[in-house]
Amino acid sequence: MEKLIVHGGAPLRGRVNISGSKNSSLPILAATLLTRDTCTIRRVPDLSDTNYMVRILGELGAEVERASGVVVVKAEKIKSVAPYDLVRKMRASICVLGPLTGRLRKCTVSLPGGCVIGDRPVDLHLKGLEALGAEIQVDGGDIRVNAPKKSFKGASLNLMGKHGSTVLGTDNVMMAAVLAKGTTVIEGAAAEPEVEDLVNFLIKMGAKIEGAGTHRVIIEGVKELHGAEHTVIPDRIEAGTFLCAGAMIGEGITIRRVIPEHLQAVTEALKKCGFVLEIGKESISIAPNPTAKGFDLTTLCYPGFPTDMQAQFCALACIINDVSTITETIFPQRFMHVAEMKRMGADIDLQGATARIRGGAKLKGAPVMASDLRASAALVLAGLVAEGRTEVNRLYHIDRGYEHLDEKLAALGAELERVRD
Ligand code: UD1
Repeated sequence: MEKLIVHGGAPLRGRVNISGSKNSSLPILAATLLTRDTCTIRRVPDLSDTNYMVRILGELGAEVERASGVVVVKAEKIKSVAPYDLVRKMRASICVLGPLTGRLRKCTVSLPGGCVIGDRPVDLHLKGLEALGAEIQVDGGDIRVNAPKKSFKGASLNLMGKHGSTVLGTDNVMMAAVLAKGTTVIEGAAAEPEVEDLVNFLIKMGAKIEGAGTHRVIIEGVKELHGAEHTVIPDRIEAGTFLCAGAMIGEGITIRRVIPEHLQAVTEALKKCGFVLEIGKESISIAPNPTAKGFDLTTLCYPGFPTDMQAQFCALACIINDVSTITETIFPQRFMHVAEMKRMGADIDLQGATARIRGGAKLKGAPVMASDLRASAALVLAGLVAEGRTEVNRLYHIDRGYEHLDEKLAALGAELERVRD
């Protein structure tokens, strides 16, 4: 197993290019199963999650070629079963459920299971497919879908759950509905930019969809989809993570190849703390501010403050000489990083789903355990400012979602090395 050794205190400066979005790439790659034709997806980040999705497509029978960020898929004939062995390693594998239902109408996809950030149910995905006329049985850990042609039809449905709208649930229902006869209206749809990116790809494939990026998506089913080419949007969470790094240490960094509008909740939060940002057309610059003020943030669905940035803002709060709070409403248990940051000397009090961080005290390097993707990134951020050596174990969590994070940080001046246990 690999770990990352971070020698804290090295100033960051310079520019960094942001990669394509992981959370866009995964459903877009799954959507290539909706056609027999060739699809070309560009700017796919080199991550273990995208590699895993490429493997799933291959195991389902698609021909897949991958070379430096470009994935070409031809899913002429596909299998209808995605067994547990294939899906268990990545929760997002569930996004093959919609395309398999849409194209084959009969499929079996194993339930991927929970993870440390919560039990992560898929009830809303299933509710949406049932509304389209699919019969669903959950049996022995498998989701069995049967959507006979005569009952598989467009419908009006609502995907709003008790923690807000569901991103992959919206993706799955849209990917099934594009091939269902008639009109589907999804109320309470997720409005995240990654959902909009998937819709843009589906439209290029011949789908008829309106309302992407809003909570009401209308789909007019078509008989079949054709091949298409698409370039994935920039990763707003990777971008936000680098903005935190730039705010925490050094002389200022610029993130490039981003869509600043997608980062508005994050840049507004940083500005409110007193950080000065220079926002260009496709770039954002930021530098530390020793007199920055604390923040009170609550995670919400887009365009609110993203849950995927909560852990990194906990790390940021540690260097702000003030009290900050952050409340998690999407995944209320997503605070695994708190105990690890406390081992580095962070003063964080966790009450229910709210973390209260008293920043300003110098963090000290320590061996820490990465628990999930974003928590791991937050520990690396804490390591960048800590005194001495921080050892971030279970580096594979970071490799799931950050393309060459250690190399990008090193190019900005960070002192870190990847080592084998
Ligand atoms: C996606 C993102 C993930 C992000 C999350 C929330 C991908 C690959 N992953 O995950 O990085 O943190 O959105 O922005 O895009 N829920 C239900 N029933 C369901 C589905 C979800 O109750 O059927 C709940 C979840 O437990 C959670 C909330 O709804 O509380 C939002 O989850 P959801 O948007 O579905 O997360 P993912 O799509 O899995």
